[in-house]
Amino acid sequence: MKGIILHGGHGTRLRPLTHTGPKQLLPIANKPMSEYCLDSIKEAGIDEIAIIIGGVGSNKVKEYYGNGKKFGVNITYIEQDEPRGIAHAISLCKKFVNNEKFLVFLGDNIIQKPITDFVENFKNSDYDATVLLCEVDNPSRFGIADIENKKILKITEKPKNPSSNLAVTGIYLLTPLIFEIIDNLKPSWRNEFEITDALDNLLKQNNNISYETITDYWKDTGTPDDILHANGEIIKKILKRLEKGIEDHIVGEGTIIESNVKINGLVTIGENCHISSGSSIGPNVSVGNNTTIFASSIENSIIMENCKINSTAEIKNSIIANNSEITDNSSGDEKIFLLGEGSKISL
Ligand code: TTP
Repeated sequence: MKGIILHGGHGTRLRPLTHTGPKQLLPIANKPMSEYCLDSIKEAGIDEIAIIIGGVGSNKVKEYYGNGKKFGVNITYIEQDEPRGIAHAISLCKKFVNNEKFLVFLGDNIIQKPITDFVENFKNSDYDATVLLCEVDNPSRFGIADIENKKILKITEKPKNPSSNLAVTGIYLLTPLIFEIIDNLKPSWRNEFEITDALDNLLKQNNNISYETITDYWKDTGTPDDILHANGEIIKKILKRLEKGIEDHIVGEGTIIESNVKINGLVTIGENCHISSGSSIGPNVSVGNNTTIFASSIENSIIMENCKINSTAEIKNSIIANNSEITDNSSGDEKIFLLGEGSKISL
């Protein structure tokens, strides 16, 4: 089987962070979110992967993943001229897929549990598609599946009155039959070729779609809040793997943490950082490599690489991109930031 990672899209909900690069390269626990997808695909035994790129900073994707050797896979890049929808992106992979069953992974979807069993079940089945469903609290934000007697009856994109809370996640197991369906698809009201329409048409055509349910953590990281939530969950998972408690933290090589720094669990700090006395970091904080934090308080936030933070304001629920600087002269108050690359703020 082959794998496809979608790495294009508009990323409007994450502006200004997506003005300088694709959202899927934004770090979660100090690693690009799409690398978690690649890890999941590889873990399922798939090492031929196409990455769909397009839009701002798609060269950064090629620079990071290269030919895939470093990651133990083979990578082919396929360009999408405009973000014309998930189904459109998939349709560009006909030649790459070459008549085999295949897996599609949206590059901004994070799943904790291995997908190996789902892939194996699909390989050994006669289904034309298997979708992975997950219960969500806010079904009107997702493509929702109606289920009866263990069969999917219908898939509806962002329903106003959802009939279930089972969201179709961004992990699809497909056969080349989907290409015929997409060829006959009409663009939606937002002028995109929707994967939910393609799957719903497939259902209408032969009713041969199965589903599996994700009972563990899954997140579609489209917004800053989603990214911050996934950040905490991934740090928790890493600490568990290292057999540490959540009150522990992860610190990279060459990083100096002075005495009198308070680290409040679920924290990962990259390499060659300097955290000076009087700082309070965490919970749920990632700090990228080469970042300096002077006597500042940071909670539920992602500070990327090469940043300088020197603020008496409490930084909370914020995402601060590479090479940003925050300094202040005023007295403390809680502040929320969504800073694009190279921002400089003097408070
Ligand atoms: P979305 O999050 O639905 O859309 P988006 O990335 O354009 O973001 P926003 O709504 O904030 O503007 O996309 C889901 C995934 O599919 C994401 O990883 C981007 C990818 N994608 C493509 O690769 N090509 C496309 O044409 C579209 C629409 C999305």
